[in-house]
Amino acid sequence: MNTLTVDLGDRSYPIVLGNTADWIELLCEKLSGRTALIITDENVDAAGHLEKLEKALAANNYTDFQSLILPPGEEHKSLATVEFIAKAAVAAKLDRKSCMIALSGGVVGDLTGFAAAIYMRGIEFIQLPTTLLAAVDSSVGGKTGADLPEGKNLIGAFHQPQMVALDTDTLSTLPETEYRNGLAEVVKYGMIMDKDFFALLQNNTEKLNSFDPGFYAKIIIRSCECKAGVVAGDEREQGSRAILNYGHTVGHAVEKLSNFALPHGRAVAIGMAAAVRLAVLMDLCSKDVEALQNQLLTELKLPTRLPENSDVDAIVQAMKSDKKNSSGGITMVLPTAVGEVKIVKGVDEELLKTALKGVL
Ligand SMILES: NC(=O)c1ccc[n+]([C@@H]2O[C@H](COP(=O)([O-])OP(=O)(O)OC[C@H]3O[C@@H](n4cnc5c(N)ncnc54)[C@H](O)[C@@H]3O)[C@@H](O)[C@H]2O)c1
Ligand SMILES: [Zn+2]
Repeated sequence: MNTLTVDLGDRSYPIVLGNTADWIELLCEKLSGRTALIITDENVDAAGHLEKLEKALAANNYTDFQSLILPPGEEHKSLATVEFIAKAAVAAKLDRKSCMIALSGGVVGDLTGFAAAIYMRGIEFIQLPTTLLAAVDSSVGGKTGADLPEGKNLIGAFHQPQMVALDTDTLSTLPETEYRNGLAEVVKYGMIMDKDFFALLQNNTEKLNSFDPGFYAKIIIRSCECKAGVVAGDEREQGSRAILNYGHTVGHAVEKLSNFALPHGRAVAIGMAAAVRLAVLMDLCSKDVEALQNQLLTELKLPTRLPENSDVDAIVQAMKSDKKNSSGGITMVLPTAVGEVKIVKGVDEELLKTALKGVL
């Protein structure tokens, strides 16, 4: 078992990585004397992970909980689902001292965190991630929210969990596409802040491609350390936390233009390829950096080129309407080396278009 801390003063919390038996006592301690609502989705339930958690809670004499099973998928990450969760919380008699528990990927995690942030003006919640992406990214850092038809994550709140705990065994039922989605974020950490981590990934692509559980445990810890460090330095994204958006400016645009048919991780991989291309054009980094990044992505079966027939002008337009670019110009995170990035405001649009054409 490994424990890290997200260091946020009186809002600090542990990230515990191991299996349920390792952290169930700590979880029960946090829930003691309180009512809880576990929120999960149909796939996680069908894979048996809800039942495992419920049994483990009961075996530790904690029974004051109910469970709510949501339909899976980004299309349910809506205000209507937040209302559904809040109503279930009322029915389960959750009060201000109660706790919500998210057992699933980033969709349920974001929804649960947001419902907890606003239910009775804010109650506590706990993240039990079951996807690689949630384990390495969405469960840590306190960004919660839901989508609007107008765009992803347009409503939300910063609300830090009380605890993040992962049972690495749950990942064994994860479909391959979901693994690859998470891997794009893992490569991102290497590129933005940790060249040794990047090298570790480069040297172990076989283990990554065979989903070796022991190796995954290792990369999840390292990824969480990276994310926890960034979040502790800039909780509300006033500055440095923005480096986590590497690959996401172009990525979000491409994802949106595909009507979300393109999975997030694949879109981020393409976004990283576009960003490093631009960085090369701007003389911020060498072509070697581009080659190293793209080779690793390719070995992990992630794309480094835009989908066929992509419209470069439409991508730039979509980037401009991103909520993070509201002040006018486009801001992008661009690499200066493997393990180092820089936040560039007011990116030259013509050069950006050239970079995008370079990854067509
Ligand atoms: N809050 C943040 O900081 C943050 C960061 C990154 C992403 N996100 C959000 O996270 C969401 C994406 O999260 P995700 O990639 O985890 O997707 P997801 O929650 O949709 O999960 C992916 C799929 O895997 C299924 N699943 C989950 N765990 C499983 C398991 N152990 N076995 C089998 N199937 C399982 C789910 O039912 C779903 O169908 C997006 O909405 C994104 O906006 C948030
Ligand atoms: Zn992402």
